[in-house]
Amino acid sequence: MAIREIRKKGDDILTKKCKPVNQVNDRVKELVEDMLETMYSADGVGLAAPQVGILRRICVIDIGEGPLVLINPEKIKETGSQYEVEGCLSIPGVFGEVKRPAKVMVKALNEKGEEFTVEGEGFLARAISHEMDHLDGVLFEDKVIRYIEVKKEG
Ligand code: NI
Repeated sequence: MAIREIRKKGDDILTKKCKPVNQVNDRVKELVEDMLETMYSADGVGLAAPQVGILRRICVIDIGEGPLVLINPEKIKETGSQYEVEGCLSIPGVFGEVKRPAKVMVKALNEKGEEFTVEGEGFLARAISHEMDHLDGVLFEDKVIRYIEVKKEG
C-alpha cells in the first residue's frame, strides 16, 4: 500500500469525466487500497480516483462506519434534500453549504468485483453524492450555495 498525492483544485484532471472500470483486477485492488490509505492519512471521509490522478469510476468512503468501496457506482434512487456544510480534500480550507439528496440508493461493484447495493441517509448520502460528483468532474464548489468562513486555529 502507498499514500498517493492528492490533486488540488486547478488540476485539470479534477474536471474530467471518469471512465468505467472494465475489470476489477489486481491493479484496481491496489488502487483501492492506496485510496483508502490516502484518505485515512488525510483525515478525509471520502476520496475519488481522479483526486489521485486516475480517471476511473472508483470512490472510497468511510464516515466512521468502516470502508465503503464503490466501483462504477450508479444512483438508482434519490429522495428528499438536505443542506449541510461540506469540504473536499482537493480544496483545502474551503467549506460551504451544498444541497444534497436526503437519501440515496446506489448500485456498484465492491473491491472483489461483486455487485451490491447500498442505501445511505444523511451524512452517508452526502458523502456518496459528493464522491460520485468527482467521477463526473464536478467539485462541491460548483454547487455551493453559501461559503462558510472558517477561522484558522492558533
Ligand atoms: Ni471531494
